[in-house]
Parts: sequence; C-alpha cells; structure tokens
Amino acid sequence: MLNIFSLRKGIAVQLSEKIKSVRVSGTVKLAQMARDLKSAGRDIIELSEGEPDFDTPKHVIDAAHQAAVSGQTRYTAVAGTLPLRGAICNKFSRDNAITYRPEEIIVGTGAKQLIFNALLATMNPGDEAIIPAPYWVSYPDMVKIADGIPVIVECGPEQGFKISAKALENAINERTRWLILNSPGNPSGVVYSTSELTDLAEVLRRHPEVSVISDDIYEAIIFDGHEFATMASVAPDLIDRILTVNGVSKSFAMTGWRIGYAGGPEDLIGAMTKLQGQSTTNPSSVSQAAALAALEGPQDFLAVWLNAYILRRELVQSRLEGVHGLNLQLPQGAFYHFIGCSGLYGRRTPTCERLTSDTDFSGYLINHAGVALVPGSEFGCPGYVRLCFAKSEHELAEACKRIRDAVSDLEYGDR
Ligand SMILES: Cc1ncc(COP(=O)(O)O)c(C=O)c1O
Repeated sequence: MLNIFSLRKGIAVQLSEKIKSVRVSGTVKLAQMARDLKSAGRDIIELSEGEPDFDTPKHVIDAAHQAAVSGQTRYTAVAGTLPLRGAICNKFSRDNAITYRPEEIIVGTGAKQLIFNALLATMNPGDEAIIPAPYWVSYPDMVKIADGIPVIVECGPEQGFKISAKALENAINERTRWLILNSPGNPSGVVYSTSELTDLAEVLRRHPEVSVISDDIYEAIIFDGHEFATMASVAPDLIDRILTVNGVSKSFAMTGWRIGYAGGPEDLIGAMTKLQGQSTTNPSSVSQAAALAALEGPQDFLAVWLNAYILRRELVQSRLEGVHGLNLQLPQGAFYHFIGCSGLYGRRTPTCERLTSDTDFSGYLINHAGVALVPGSEFGCPGYVRLCFAKSEHELAEACKRIRDAVSDLEYGDR
C-alpha cells in the first residue's frame, strides 16, 4: 500500500523505507511539545533542548554584520573560507596540539552535518558503527540513514557511562568501520581521561579497519579540574583514521548560526566536501565570518560563562539530590544533569497512573509540573531523565521546586 503524505489535490507521495525507520529526535520532539503547550497558554519551563541561554558575544555579531555589509554574501569554497579553515588549524594546534593543514579541514552547517557527511561518505550497507550508550540522540539514526548498523554498547553507571577497552574489543568485528566517541558526553556529562583514551587507542591499533569520530563539541565546558583529552592528540599515530569534530554552537553560544568544523585525513575530508557540494554547498558566508571572529577574538568571557555553569550545576544538584527516588551525580562536563529516576517506578500520579518508565516520568513532569526534560531512553539509557542546566538560575530554581513538588505528589503502592 502507498504511504500517503498528502492527499490534497490528489497528490500522493510515497515515503521511503529508510525514512520510515528514522526516529524523530527525542530532544526535538520534547522541545516541540513544550512549544505547543506554551502556545496553548501553559506555563512550561523548557530544560530539554541543549543550548546555552547566553547571547552570542557582541564582537561576533559585529563581525557578521561587517561581513554582510562588505559583500561577503556570496557562495564560498564548499569546505569553508580559507581564513576560517586557517583559524580552525590554529585552534586545533593551540588548544589540542593537533596539526592539521587547511586541506584537512571542513566547515559545515553545524557539527551535526559533519558527522552525518562522514558516515554517509564512508559506510557501505551492513557496515557497523560502535556507539557507547548513553549516546547523543542522533548518532544511531545517522548511521541507519547511511545504510550502516548502529552497534550500541551499553555503558551504564557501573561502567561510569564510558566504553572500556575490553567492551570495545568485544564489540569489534570485521564489519566495524567506526567508533563514535563524545567527551564531555551528552547526556551523561562524563569526560574520558587521557589514560582511558590511551587504552582505547591500544585496542584500535590492533584493528586498522576501525576509524574514530571524536565529537568534541562540549570541549569548552568542563569542570572540577578535569582535563579535556581527544583521540588525535592522545594517539597521534592514529591520526589518519580519526575525524575530530567540533564547532561554535555550544562553546560560543552560537547554536542558531549553524557552524561546525572537522579535521581529518585529506581523502575523507575530500569525500565529505564532495557530498556537501551536492547537498548544502558552503555553510552561510555570514556565519563563517562570525565563527572566525569567535575563534580568533577575545576568549575571556568563556571563563565567566564557565563559572555561571558551575553555579547552575550546583544549584540543581543541591535542590534535587535529597529528593527520594531521584539519583544525581555531579556532571564533569557539558551542561546536563542525567538524573536517575527508576526509584520512582511503581508510584502513582494524582490521576492514578502508575509510573513504570523514564518516559512516564517525563510525561508526568511536563503535564503535571510544566517542566520539560528528555527521557533517558532517547539516549539509549532508560531509567534516567536529562535536564539541561544552561538556563537562568531563576528558571532552574523554579523548575527544581516544581520537580520536588511533583515527586511529593506521587503516591506509594496500590490504592
Ligand atoms: C554531542 C553533540 N554533538 C553534536 C551536536 C550538534 O551540534 P551543532 O549545533 O554544531 O550541529 C550536539 C547538539 O546538541 C551534541 O549534543
């Protein structure tokens, strides 16, 4: 039977099997639900979408304005302007001690597009990508769209939410093409140390057919003296099979500008550029000028923002850690609390529904308390909810109060 997309004017569009197998991103879904409830007049605190509430710095906006008025409004090189790629090389060298040439850099419409391009440019049907869970919502679906098979390796709290060398070794077979790493991690907030990456690199040396995507998008947001480490600097001998992905969205509060970048071997970057040249072409010229200003301009405000994140992280921790049935660990990086909620299972809501999952709990919170959090099952880790604390202290304090009240409104056992 045909899948009817629209019957207006008798037009029928058939949807592909591939797109039917793709899920709507859990964070996008929750954010949309929050927007819908808000426009219906409900008072909703939206802590589901992962973006800083800070304004993009003024010098970055000024650079974009200047670029627009001075005529930088045309197509650029598909992989990004040379000045921006040069600035990215400087960033990698300065912050990560990785040497890339401009030909080994691509700029895309967000880090998301670059991960997507890399998978699409490299995977053949049946190839596998190893994804430690909890994972960023989009990885498994991106792998599926690229005709690959996502191999989810569960890394629960006992594993510190990180993949170990042993678990990696066990997951690799002759079809494995990629390992996707993300540190600081979304949603877990955990950070891989140099020694943990060294152990993983040791396994990868035995498997030359396996490459690594290192998603470093939360590099700038790291707490308590944890040091940021990335595979290409920990294991420079593996540089020919590492794609280091980063961007300005999270670190510079520029989610809407849509600029991500990646460094990697020239043939891979060339293939990703070819693909981008047949899809979106270059990312916005004006946004590229803004990203250049962000990377090359003053960086002092980053420390101020980091302090704000630390205060917000502690505010949520102190307000929720005593709540019976919830389990909180201080995140080491990124801006999410990944809160255990399985201790609430079995309890009943005031409308007599029994909570049996993280999805039930998140549904209860948005409907009963007006707080939008994302269920852990969206990240391959049921039993948790993710709370984004990149919001004002006022909003966070109010959200925590509502969560506490909502939990105390739950009743124990059968009635
Ligand atoms: C782990 C991770 N990688 C990549 C991205 C995408 O970043 P961008 O806005 O640059 O596409 C996100 C955004 O939420 C993320 O959490």
